[in-house]
Parts: sequence; structure tokens; C-alpha cells
Amino acid sequence: ATDRALAGLKVVVSAGPTYEDLDPVRYLGNRSSGKMGFAVAASAARRGAEVVLVSGPVNLPTPAGVKRVDVRSAAQMREAVFAAFPADIYIGAAAVADYTPRLPAANKIKKSSESLALDLVRTPDILAEVAARTQELKLVIGFAAETERVAEYARGKLVAKRLDMIIANRVGVADGGFESDSNAMTAFWKDGERAFASAPKTQLADELVDLIVERLHA
Ligand code: C5P
Repeated sequence: ATDRALAGLKVVVSAGPTYEDLDPVRYLGNRSSGKMGFAVAASAARRGAEVVLVSGPVNLPTPAGVKRVDVRSAAQMREAVFAAFPADIYIGAAAVADYTPRLPAANKIKKSSESLALDLVRTPDILAEVAARTQELKLVIGFAAETERVAEYARGKLVAKRLDMIIANRVGVADGGFESDSNAMTAFWKDGERAFASAPKTQLADELVDLIVERLHA
């Protein structure tokens, strides 16, 4: 897409994993590469949007025309996302940790006993909070990485988090998912859905932004 269909609109995108520190040398993380979120941010910028990309720890260059804010933890990501508002569109592509250590250790945890239990507490659900609190947003879009019952779980999250759209993809398969350059995915909204055939994430991002432009005017 080469038109400037998103000119005059501000888009906030979250991308990548979060790292939840256990102690000064260890963290809980996940396998998100950030590629999909970065590709969506790049695509939205090419279509004229003002884009703020809130990124967890990744190894990716900043897309042209995008303002990037680097964060580490879920709590920091939440702060950065709300600091970027007001905006017109929020796209939560980050793989936010669901749990974080109740109290990170000030010093390196030493090995002593035969087993060790971690005390974890829920992180804030950034996406659900954005959807619930932010009235001015025209579209709130989430991602759902699932290993099974993809459509059912995705539609459940669409309703539970009060989203305008959710993009589901199957992870744990050979082609696609977290560390891959390509992916197959399906977008769900209240009264419709669209499947995207397996393609490079850069192409999928362009197709997804096309759909976002459509839904914006629906
Ligand atoms: O519930 P689940 O983690 O599968 O939902 C995934 C969607 O919710 C993604 O869009 C992700 O960015 C967002 N999310 C969030 N904050 C969390 C957990 C998930 O924004 N703590």
C-alpha cells in the first residue's frame, strides 16, 4: 500500500517481549522477536500515520519515520504506552509477561536448596486497560498467540478485553509464530473475520494495515 490513508492519525504499537527481573542477573522472558509489531509500525508510518513504537528488548532496527521508546518490563511498557496517548489507534503486538516476581531480589539468588519456587504476581493487562480507559481511541487491536483452539480463544479475548479486533496466530508450528519471518494469521472482529495466508511478516503487516484502514471507515 502506497497511499497515505493514515495521514493525520496517531498510532501506538507495542512490540517484542518483556523481561521481568528475578535478580540483578536473571529474568523471565519469552521468545517474541518483535518482528510483527515492528513491521506493523513501519507499515502504518509508510501510510502516513504518526507512529510511537513501544518496544521490549529486541534486536531490530527502528523503522523509518517511527518514534521508538525502549522498555524492559511489563510495568515499564504500561507506563510508556499511556505516556504516548492520546492516540487514534492502539495495536498491542507485544508478548507481555503475564506474571512478574513479587519482589525482585536485590542480590544474586544463590543456589542452596534442591528446589526453588518463584513467587509471581499478575502483571497489569495493558491491552484490556487501554480498551477500558481510553475513550478517544478509534480502534484497539490485540494479538493472540495460541497453540490450540485458535479461533475460540481469540474470540474470547476479543470480548473479554473489549477489543475492536484481534489477530490470532498459531504458535508452536513449523512455519510461523514467534521467531519466524513469516506467519499465517486470522483477524477477528465482532461481525467478521479475515484469514491471511502465510506470508513474510512485512507483507502481512501491509495487509493488516489495509484491513485497519477498512475497519476505521466501517
Ligand atoms: O491474554 P493474552 O496475553 O493472550 O492476550 C494477548 C494480547 O494482550 C496481546 O495483544 C498482548 O499485547 C496483550 N497483553 C497486554 N498486557 C498483558 C498481557 C497481554 O497488553 N499483561
